[in-house]
Amino acid sequence: MSQLWGGRFEGRPDPRFHAFQASLSVDQRLWREDIAGSIAWAHALARAEVILTDEAHSIEAGLRAIAAELEAQPALFAQSSAEDIHDFVESRLRSRIGDLARKLHTGRSRNDQVATDFRLNLRVLGAQIGLALEELQSALVQLAAKVADLPMPGYTHLQRAQPVTAGHFLLAYVEMLERDRERLQQALARMNVSPLGSGALAGTAFAVDREQLATELGFSRPTRNSLDAVSARDHAAELAFMAAQCMVHLSRFSEDCIFFASQEARFVRLSDAISTGSSLMPQKKNPDGFELLRGKSARVIGALQSLLVLQKGLPLAYDKDLQEDKELCFDALDTVRECLAVAAILVNNIAFDEARCRTEANKGYSNATDLADLLVRGGIPFRDAHERAGLVVRAAIERGIELDDLAAADRARLLPELVHLDDAAWRRELSVDAVLARRRVTGGTAPERVRAEAARWKALLHSRVPLAHVSAPVSRTSNPT
Ligand code: ARG
Repeated sequence: MSQLWGGRFEGRPDPRFHAFQASLSVDQRLWREDIAGSIAWAHALARAEVILTDEAHSIEAGLRAIAAELEAQPALFAQSSAEDIHDFVESRLRSRIGDLARKLHTGRSRNDQVATDFRLNLRVLGAQIGLALEELQSALVQLAAKVADLPMPGYTHLQRAQPVTAGHFLLAYVEMLERDRERLQQALARMNVSPLGSGALAGTAFAVDREQLATELGFSRPTRNSLDAVSARDHAAELAFMAAQCMVHLSRFSEDCIFFASQEARFVRLSDAISTGSSLMPQKKNPDGFELLRGKSARVIGALQSLLVLQKGLPLAYDKDLQEDKELCFDALDTVRECLAVAAILVNNIAFDEARCRTEANKGYSNATDLADLLVRGGIPFRDAHERAGLVVRAAIERGIELDDLAAADRARLLPELVHLDDAAWRRELSVDAVLARRRVTGGTAPERVRAEAARWKALLHSRVPLAHVSAPVSRTSNPT
């Protein structure tokens, strides 16, 4: 029979039902937060003169001893039949300090307790994801600085469009990750409020100082509505969205890298350290790492979907459905943290095939826009210039040559406005380096821009203060009074 709620029950729970409704296997990872929250709650009860200061000290000492014990022997959970982490900690406290432990739950509910533990834990997990994001950004920026000048084909509709620099390609993903980081930071700030003192649903009946309690646990303030405090899980969905969007970014990056590493493109080479072979085909070298990043985005998107559906239609306030929140949210956040770390390893193990990138960037008429622009610079309206350049492309395709190779006679016929360009000047104007260099507008792909951007990112990442709250909450908790 549960020590937490057995009083009004005559019958014993069915063992299969107990196992079904228990959550220790998932919420055991909240133990540090549960203990920190309980220590703070004991302090608050003492300050409200609900328990004696000495009693609060004994409770705190017992809880700290349990923390030390769990730190040393995490296997203790496996032997426990406790319903959840709150049950686990309280019954362990009882065996340590006896009946005094029975005072700790005064004015508190597992509903405000789990809401508090979860927020505290997500804060730590969020900070770890923040670090993983920054490490991946650093890896990308470092590689981008190396290939800031390197031309490669740029695509729209997966058709060659205009050349870009490889550094520009990489920094595009740094931008995406930066927005993921902003979203993470904003979500963490928004959820950093303390539900403790909300009780089961209506607020505690004891005069605890919730502001002080919030401060002690590192929250910015207490929640303002107890019904909302015990039932809100939008912070879990918000973090899962952040994770899902970040995984979508990793998935798109993976897709690009998989294509770039293919025999068809051969723009990058994957080192052996991050490649796998085929059990059948001896020649194969497969990009499994990138494929897994792409694949794992599916489960994170699924977790976000589940977290939203979980909340839909739930009446206020707490409902046991909400117990499903943690497994989903942890899976999403653990996955994105792990994937970010692996993505950084992958980035450190790819190398651009510079000769191949440069050669291919010169092919496929991706300088046709610049031919039209040359006409525009000579005073021709863009629509007409576009038409004329299109005719020139068609002629080049018929001859099986690139625009650069078009003979002077053909140019004189098709492009009389450009007769002043001799062969060398014609090639120079349409060269990939000229095409790239022209795009030095803010946000453009010109090597000078990309070099400056890589340097800006390096400085920014170097001076960046990590998102807070990486340390375990137990050690930060202070004494009462
Ligand atoms: N294990 C529960 C959860 O994760 C804790 C809260 C239980 N509250 C209750 N009234 N049964 O949601």
